[in-house]
Order: sequence, then C-alpha cells, then structure tokens
Amino acid sequence: MNEPFKAVKITDTIYWVGAIDWSLRDFHGYSTSRGSTYNAYLILADKITLVDTVKAPYKDELIARISSLINPEDINYIISNHSEMDHSGCLAEVMRIVKPEATFASAMGVKTLSAHFAEDKEIAAIKAVQNGEVLDLGNMSITFLETKMLHWPDSMISYIPQQKFLFSQDAFGMHCATSKRFADEIPADIIEYESEKYYANILLPYSHLIAKLVQKIKDMGLEFDIIAPDHGPVWRKNPLQIVSKYVEWAEQKPREKVIISYDTMWKSTDLMARSIADGIMSKGMEVKLLPLSSFHRSDVMTELLTAGALIIGSPTMNNNLYPTVADLFFYMKGLKPKNLIGFAFGAYGWSGESITQAEEFLKEMNVELTNPGIKAKYVPTGEVLIECYNRGAELAEKLSLKCTQ
Ligand code: FEO
Repeated sequence: MNEPFKAVKITDTIYWVGAIDWSLRDFHGYSTSRGSTYNAYLILADKITLVDTVKAPYKDELIARISSLINPEDINYIISNHSEMDHSGCLAEVMRIVKPEATFASAMGVKTLSAHFAEDKEIAAIKAVQNGEVLDLGNMSITFLETKMLHWPDSMISYIPQQKFLFSQDAFGMHCATSKRFADEIPADIIEYESEKYYANILLPYSHLIAKLVQKIKDMGLEFDIIAPDHGPVWRKNPLQIVSKYVEWAEQKPREKVIISYDTMWKSTDLMARSIADGIMSKGMEVKLLPLSSFHRSDVMTELLTAGALIIGSPTMNNNLYPTVADLFFYMKGLKPKNLIGFAFGAYGWSGESITQAEEFLKEMNVELTNPGIKAKYVPTGEVLIECYNRGAELAEKLSLKCTQ
C-alpha cells in the first residue's frame, strides 16, 4: 500500500491517524449532511499504543497514516474503547497487520466484539480491562473508565493523566467531515449545530447517565487539556465548553421555543400549522415550522433539543397517521425527550383517526397536552383557523410561564 495519508499532530506524542468520510449521509437513521470522521489516535509512548480503529472500508487510510510516523508493527498495544462497527470494523484486520502485544477493551467490549466478529481468532485474544484499571505505557499511563450505555453497554473512555488528555470515544463528538482536525479551526455555528445534532440523535436517551458521569469525573478531580472524541474535531481550546454543553442538554430544561412538525396531503394541515405558528408569534415566542417534506426526522430532533413545546400535525390517511409523521413519532419516542408541552392537530376527510393517534403518541412521550387535538374536515374553516391561532397563543403563554417557574 502506498497511499499518501499523513498523521496529524495533536501533542508532541499523540497523533490523529483516523479517516475522513466525506460521503456519509446516513448514520443509522440520522442524516449526516456534512459526512463524518472516524478518529483513531496513536500514542508515541515507550509502549506505542493505538486508540481505536476506523470503519472497515477506511482501514488502508488508517494504516497509511500510522505508517507516515512508524512501522505499524512497532505498535505495542491497541485499545478498543467502543465496539460499534464504525470503530471496530477493521479491528481484527489491524490486529493481523500490527501483531500487538495486547489489545484491550472493557469486559462488555470483549463480549460485544466477540459477538460481532465471532469468526476472527484475533478478536478472541482481546483482554478485558476493569473500570479504573491503569495501563502502564512506560513514560505515561492510561486509566480506563467504563461509561456503560454511553452509548452502548461496552463503552469506555481512556485518560492519560500526565497529559490531561481524554479519549472520549463517541462522547463529545459530532458527524462533520472537514479538512480541520480541531474545533477551534471550524466556524462556531457549525460546531454548535453539529454537536447539538449529535447529542439530540445519539445521546439524548442517556442524559441521566451523562449527568452522573460528569459528576463522577468532577469527584475524581480529573482535568482536561484535550478531549479527543471518535467523531469530528478535537477539543483543545477550552475543552470544558463541550462538557458544559452536555450538562446543559442533559438537564432538558424547558426553553421558550416551540417546534411544529407535520406533514400535509392537500395543504390543509399546512394551513393549520401556519395559523398555530402565527398565534405563537403573536406572543413574541420563537417558533419553528418543520414540515416533514422538507426536514429530516433527525433535524426535527435537533431543534427539539433546545425547545420546550412540541406540536404535531398529521392528516388522516387510510385511518392512520400520515407515514412520515408515524416515522417521526417512533424515532422521537426512542430518543426520550423530556419536559415538553404540546398538542396535536390535522385535517381529515371522513374518519379522522390521525389526531387521536398523534395525541396517544404525545402522551406516551409524556408530553403534557395543553388542549384537545384540533381537527379540520377536508379544509379548515375560518373558525378552525382562529382556533389554531388561539391555541398557539395560549400554548406560548403557558410555556413562557413554565420557563420562569
Ligand atoms: Fe461512533 Fe457508537 O459509534
């Protein structure tokens, strides 16, 4: 292999040796409009250590970047912080190339890697490390901390105390392919949006664990000069900024912002949505209309992360919710957003089940309903549109009050 990929220096002894996936547009149901990176890191300690690998098709890029610094066979240890395939798909093949003295994963990681790659004898040789265990690299060391369910049961993070350097695997990452490797080199609005999108679509259901993890890190007195995730840029300037954001998002406090997401057959539900939005705006509150013909489910989740109300509209089609709205509900329910108020609305022709079904979904998500669902038969009358406007205005007032309590 003669590919010209180079390692990128993070510190004097730690290099980025991952891969950039410019073409990725879907990550298990999450739209990744900016692509992604699969980050791996090479520690040039007395015991040379590779932290994580990359998605299988990018194995040659990883090996080429390592080869720009050292002979891959000089690597002593490999650490697998997370067994999802975007970080482990080429692990067995890399182990065959590198022939490390040892490869380490969490106890659960050993099990999940074996389940994924049962045919690879290299995988059977991976050693389990315990929570808090320290690996001696000679002139530095690595401490392993289990982060179960953040976001898989096998997940762990690795910390080098001598450099205050955290390998955080999926945590504090984002899906963003750029030519820059550091967060401070990328426009702040892109960093903000993509880190919000990542949290909302990957980590939101585990918010209670994030709060506990941050507290545990504080209790242990760990300090960070650099946080290096497995996706997106490395945090080197004020790395605690992303930790603070995680604490804020994990709290899921209500905010003065309303999301209206809906689909429409013949523009009746759309007209209702716009009337509701106007009522909300009449109270000076921020509102975002997210028609599902134009917005991906993962973009709706991103906006919902920083909202306090969720209003859902669906026409009735064949006695059911409109398919795109049903898709959104199933996706959102799994991500467990909390602390929302809202209501349902929609147009129908002769049966009108979609509004009741939407209300049932909102209740399952523990959304506090501010009023019964609003229905329009075929085309909303002026009276129905006034009701939409008024219910929107009332919801804005209730949300405003809730946010001040
Ligand atoms: Fe980036 Fe959970 O994998």
